[in-house]
Amino acid sequence: MMVHIPGLLPPPEVAECRAILESSQWVDGRGTAGEQAAQAKFNLQIPVSSETAAKAGGIVLRALARNPAFRSATLPRLVLPPLFNRYDAGMRFDAHVDGAIRTLPGSGEQMRADISSTLFLTDPADYDGGDLVVEDTYGTHSVKLPAGDIVVYPATSLHNVTPITRGSRWASFFWVQSLIRDDGKRTLLYDLDTAIMEVRQRLGDHERASVALASHYHNLLRRWAEL
Ligand code: NI
Repeated sequence: MMVHIPGLLPPPEVAECRAILESSQWVDGRGTAGEQAAQAKFNLQIPVSSETAAKAGGIVLRALARNPAFRSATLPRLVLPPLFNRYDAGMRFDAHVDGAIRTLPGSGEQMRADISSTLFLTDPADYDGGDLVVEDTYGTHSVKLPAGDIVVYPATSLHNVTPITRGSRWASFFWVQSLIRDDGKRTLLYDLDTAIMEVRQRLGDHERASVALASHYHNLLRRWAEL
């Protein structure tokens, strides 16, 4: 399932992130790619363990923590600290699949990448090309979103970023290990949660149907969650 969450970062926080990135050093993006993906990757990134990555990453993590749509769509267990990339004219990332296992900085603990996320940090009017193209069983989806919007999609998907022909595209990207490993089960829970929100709004929280549906959601989550 692919989910677009508008306005994850409000404009002042997009500006704050961009100001931090403007003062940062940028390095070849191949440093964080596996051997095969590195051959497809032509972009720039903020050094992973830099102070700027931590500062801008903190803004993104706080926004994720307060966003109910992100929680509902991803059911996060672990979130890799956000990374930041940049595609200038001529840069691209050819078709690849993201690595399955990531190492959390600091603890060195490993996490499984279930969900890939891209948070757009440049107004689409400021660049041409740079579409995120994701292939799944339902076809190919081309994504280019306003600054501050985020898209989450299964990390199992083949995807690419088309070449930039004008301007520069900045984004944050990171992976989530979900409480629910299976994308099909996660989709069922997301759809159920979305429907429950509607029912609660129409019937109120104390109607028997609202309580029964919420109980069903939590009992499915209890049955499927991996901690
Ligand atoms: Ni990727």
